[in-house]
Amino acid sequence: MTYEAAADIGIGSKASIAKSAVLERSAVIDLEAVRHNVRQFVAIASPASVMAVVKADAYGHGAVQVARAALDAGAARLGVAHISEALALRAAGVDAPLLAWLHTRESNFQAAVAAGIDVGISGWELDAVVAAAREQERPARVHLKVDTGLGRNGCTIADWDQLVGQAMEYQDQGLLRVVGIFSHLAVADEPHRPETDEQLAVFREAIAMAEDAGVDTEVRHIANTPATLSRPDSHFDLVRVGLGIYGLSPFEGATSAELGLHPAMTVRTLLSNCKKVPAGQGVSYGLNYRTSGESTLGLVPLGYADGVPRVGTGGPVRINGVNYPVVGRIAMDQMVVDLGALTPEEAAGFKGAEAVMLGDGADGGPTADDWAAAAGTNNYEIVTRISPRVPRSYVNELPPPAEVHKDANQTNAANQATETAAL
Ligand SMILES: Cc1ncc(COP(=O)(O)O)c(C=O)c1O
Repeated sequence: MTYEAAADIGIGSKASIAKSAVLERSAVIDLEAVRHNVRQFVAIASPASVMAVVKADAYGHGAVQVARAALDAGAARLGVAHISEALALRAAGVDAPLLAWLHTRESNFQAAVAAGIDVGISGWELDAVVAAAREQERPARVHLKVDTGLGRNGCTIADWDQLVGQAMEYQDQGLLRVVGIFSHLAVADEPHRPETDEQLAVFREAIAMAEDAGVDTEVRHIANTPATLSRPDSHFDLVRVGLGIYGLSPFEGATSAELGLHPAMTVRTLLSNCKKVPAGQGVSYGLNYRTSGESTLGLVPLGYADGVPRVGTGGPVRINGVNYPVVGRIAMDQMVVDLGALTPEEAAGFKGAEAVMLGDGADGGPTADDWAAAAGTNNYEIVTRISPRVPRSYVNELPPPAEVHKDANQTNAANQATETAAL
């Protein structure tokens, strides 16, 4: 049941229900960490500007809150995958330049044009977006995407001339403005690999072809977090940074701290149970783990419904200053740590104790990287899959922009007005 539903039927006030849910388990997002990370990327990318990538609810961190923090810290633009994600940001009052790049024929191009959302175009979307522009009597803002080697979205270089030519015809008719040219890298997290050079060469070729056809963009962009950090020659006019603004490292061999980044998410809860068990006690479905001696088991009320990977057995949970590996199978709602042989006095200190699944690791505690290693995945997936059942709570949130950043708002509004006027 949602807090709203519970409050509606009089079970308690929305605030008190929400508060206890957060105290029970939460993903605590430090927005000062987000702002710090964005400032780092603004400095690294300069003179290129930064697009904060806030798709997938800002990799699980909360799109609206992260978007506001990122803009406050100097991000110039926002990026999402879906138009629906972009519309949700507009509905929350976020008026910054905003690009959505992954569409289907059911995507709401009308609403995107009406809301001044930039639309990524790989080919087929062009006519649909132009139809929406006609309907809305407003030019669409598009970024043409070239596939430089990733083999996913984007127009092949073979079809690029045709796409550019078609877009320029529409631009000449006042139906759209080609705001950007972009692409996406495949192996920037492995800086030694040659394919990034190859992709950058194709990107430069695509830009030259577009410029020959008269395209005059605001921004050319291809860099993600790892490229922004390791390939200054990939910055062009704009870098699209996701993982890094959440304070996580894209490189196997480098920690967040080594990159000067602050992980923004802490997932914590309270132990549900703590009990003494005999030697040979089986733990969780399958009884894959048995205690080697008399021991104490701690029950952590987080499971795969909360986004803990079911295959993440061995991942660490920090309780009372010690990291304990999860033992036995991770279930839908819970997982177990073996606290070892404890005296009754020691065990008393674990009853209801706080259990941290992941955080910034500054105190030696568990990180998203640790869980990625345990689950055989990457840190992107660990934070992004923390599910809506885990309430988000925010620290270091600034007051709403209208109250403190009138100037910044006016600048954004002015930018948009200029962009519209330029059409
Ligand atoms: C098109 C595009 N650009 C940028 C990003 C951001 O990548 P990263 O999180 O590595 O910065 C993504 C994320 O996958 C993406 O899909």
